[in-house]
Amino acid sequence: MARGFFITFEGGEGAGKSTQIGRLAHKLRDKRYQVAVTREPGGSPGAEAIRHVILSGAAEPLGPEMEALLFAAARSDHVEQLIRPALRRGKIVLCDRFVDSSRVYQANVDAALLEEIERVSLNGVMPNLTLIFDIDPEVGLRRAAERRGADQADRFEKETLAVHRRRRQAFLDIAIKEPKRCVVIDASADADAVENAVTAAVFGAIEARSDVDAEAAQGA
Ligand code: TYD
Repeated sequence: MARGFFITFEGGEGAGKSTQIGRLAHKLRDKRYQVAVTREPGGSPGAEAIRHVILSGAAEPLGPEMEALLFAAARSDHVEQLIRPALRRGKIVLCDRFVDSSRVYQANVDAALLEEIERVSLNGVMPNLTLIFDIDPEVGLRRAAERRGADQADRFEKETLAVHRRRRQAFLDIAIKEPKRCVVIDASADADAVENAVTAAVFGAIEARSDVDAEAAQGA
């Protein structure tokens, strides 16, 4: 069976993940890899429907457990409908946010419950590589506001700077705990420098995994 390669992009708001995902997808396709680009929450029709409920803030009054369950429901649908089938076909899947965002953003939920719903939603699918885009939240939030207009912050962007700082540290802690899977990228550098760091990490990881079916992952 062809085996793909699953790469996730994590980090705070305004870290430039989507720009870099676009550039990386282009570069991989140039090298004749088959690439699927996706994002969370969302990425499949069922998950996109849940995305709207969460990001509008409609689920916030229902409590953090409910929000965590909704993220997990969206993830489960996304994994089964899009990610697992793409990996089975030998594709390289690039996903903007995934399970580490739940670990970091839903950290106010009981850890045992969070672990349990993580297990169910992933159903055995974990990223081969996770790039953690690290940036001072003050800089990131400014960038995010410039991108979409200051008055339209979503449910999570609206939170205090102290909360965003805690999240930054929580992402870095994951990288320390799982050094084989995670690479920290300095997202404060200019876009070309970030691109170079991303390219080095991704091609290094693909080439290092000798069991990745390069023939299948390439346009065959
Ligand atoms: P989005 O606009 O896609 O964010 P960004 O451009 O920052 O990636 O919004 C996703 C928001 O949802 C973001 O603030 C992080 C949050 N989130 C969680 O809280 N838990 C999760 O599991 C995921 C995937 C995202």
